[in-house]
Amino acid sequence: MTNDPSYRDNQKSNTEDNNTLTNRQGHPVTNNQNIRTVGNRGPATLENYDFIEKISHFDRERIPERVVHARGAGAHGYFEAYGTVGNEPVSKYTRAKLFQEKGKQTPVFVRFSSVIHGGHSPETLRDPRGFAVKFYTEDGNWDLVGNNLKIFFIRDAIKFPDMIHAFKPDPVTNIQDAERFFDFCASSPESFHMVTFVYSPWGIPANYRMMQGSGVNTYKWVNSDGQAVLVKYHWEPKQGIKNLTQKEASEIQATNFNHATQDLYQAIERSDYPEWELLVQILSDDEHPELDFDPLDDTKLWPEDQFPWLPVGKMILNRNPVNYFTEVEQVAFGTGVLVDGLDFSDDKMLQGRTFSYSDTQRHRVGANYLQLPINAPKKRVATNQSGGQMEYYVDRSPSHNPHINYEPSLLGGLVEAQQAGKEYTPLIEGRLVRQSIDRSNNTQQAGDTYRRFKDWERDELISNLVGDLSRCDVRIRDAMIALAAEADEEYGRRLREGLKNSPKGGSSQKPLGNKNGDQAPDKAVNIAH
Ligand code: HEM
Repeated sequence: MTNDPSYRDNQKSNTEDNNTLTNRQGHPVTNNQNIRTVGNRGPATLENYDFIEKISHFDRERIPERVVHARGAGAHGYFEAYGTVGNEPVSKYTRAKLFQEKGKQTPVFVRFSSVIHGGHSPETLRDPRGFAVKFYTEDGNWDLVGNNLKIFFIRDAIKFPDMIHAFKPDPVTNIQDAERFFDFCASSPESFHMVTFVYSPWGIPANYRMMQGSGVNTYKWVNSDGQAVLVKYHWEPKQGIKNLTQKEASEIQATNFNHATQDLYQAIERSDYPEWELLVQILSDDEHPELDFDPLDDTKLWPEDQFPWLPVGKMILNRNPVNYFTEVEQVAFGTGVLVDGLDFSDDKMLQGRTFSYSDTQRHRVGANYLQLPINAPKKRVATNQSGGQMEYYVDRSPSHNPHINYEPSLLGGLVEAQQAGKEYTPLIEGRLVRQSIDRSNNTQQAGDTYRRFKDWERDELISNLVGDLSRCDVRIRDAMIALAAEADEEYGRRLREGLKNSPKGGSSQKPLGNKNGDQAPDKAVNIAH
């Protein structure tokens, strides 16, 4: 797990030793039932090292929760490449080594999650699900940090903190409020396609094994000639896809709020290993003026009939974590973590995300988070970075002169690597502006998605939207009805009719729940984004 020999020695002696309890200094603990006191009725003494160490460590057992995606489950496994993309050799599009050879295996760690609520929130809530994969490749780590749904609510990173504030509990009551959620969405019409998915059964996957994954944002692949294409990544579950109605979800939630973690853990324990195929969609690297949407807009699907899903490999999860905290809680994924042959696009969400992940992880886990076994690459790491809290080892190998912790140097030390292939050097030109993209086309694809849904999915969508919108201010309802009508005439009509007889909104606080007595209990807790 790590390239540090002392870590391995320590693990080894821990497994070989007898079962004697020690403190963290290695001293045997002879009494773990009583603190040291003056007489058996006290008072206690302050020099009681075993007690102070134990209680002080307990006081620090938690690290900050992820600001989003706090509730999650994880597993280890491997990715196996096909060596091809569809019928072509993958090398035509990317030189990334993990994809090149048929049958080549790369270890992975995956963390699934829900987004809005805290670390022990129910796994039945209506919410996108996170699908983050860390590939420990021979060229270092690649993180593909995706969701189950293929699109997102917003297309500009500057809106993300506002969006999350609106979706999380009210800062005064600490209760999630449908009115705040829809207030943001009605005022951000680009979110309507995602709202359409999230309020349909696709907003409650039955478990983590039976859901798709997607990179959502647009990336690039670069080949050995330095030529790039735009790509989108998709994971397709071999187990099939299963989503829940609100009623089914509420029934599960009444008895079990850990059902998805449990399902994943138990499947792996009984050797029923979940598997996903990785597929990509490819577009040439340009603006595509012929399309009615921008390929860098993450609120849009790339239509499958125009841009087929091409298989490139498969992933199997076959090992549960040994410890939840050290692996699932401390794992740190980021969109900036790419390997040679993979690149960013100019997608504005992706660019904003790429700053945010490592920034939060330096705060959440600590400056040396990349030295933890779950985050460290399974290959040689050699940097001149050192110090900071909890530095665990020096990244440089002992064969290098330990005095030379800088570069360049005539006296030894680390040297720059050779470029692996021809560098990709796109020409970028334009005025610095703060402007939305053209071709925003906010509702057309939401209409296509509505029409593609099965009848029961449309029924659920309308019923779930009516349930939560009925508790919102009338201005918000009207704006949402207008967006639905713009997307599809029937969608707008059904939403308008559904809301017609519900009580008018207007008060400032509408906590989720059966407050107005106007909905069945199974519609009481609809959103949890
Ligand atoms: C987690 C920021 C959009 C998927 C996080 C975290 C932050 C963040 C700060 C917590 C990371 C940690 O503590 O380790 C942002 C920002 C976004 C954005 C600023 C938009 C500008 C998205 C989108 C997706 C996504 C579009 C889906 C493709 C995830 C996932 C996690 C996560 C799956 C959890 C990773 C894990 O399991 O540890 N995000 N995010 N995020 N985000 Fe985003």
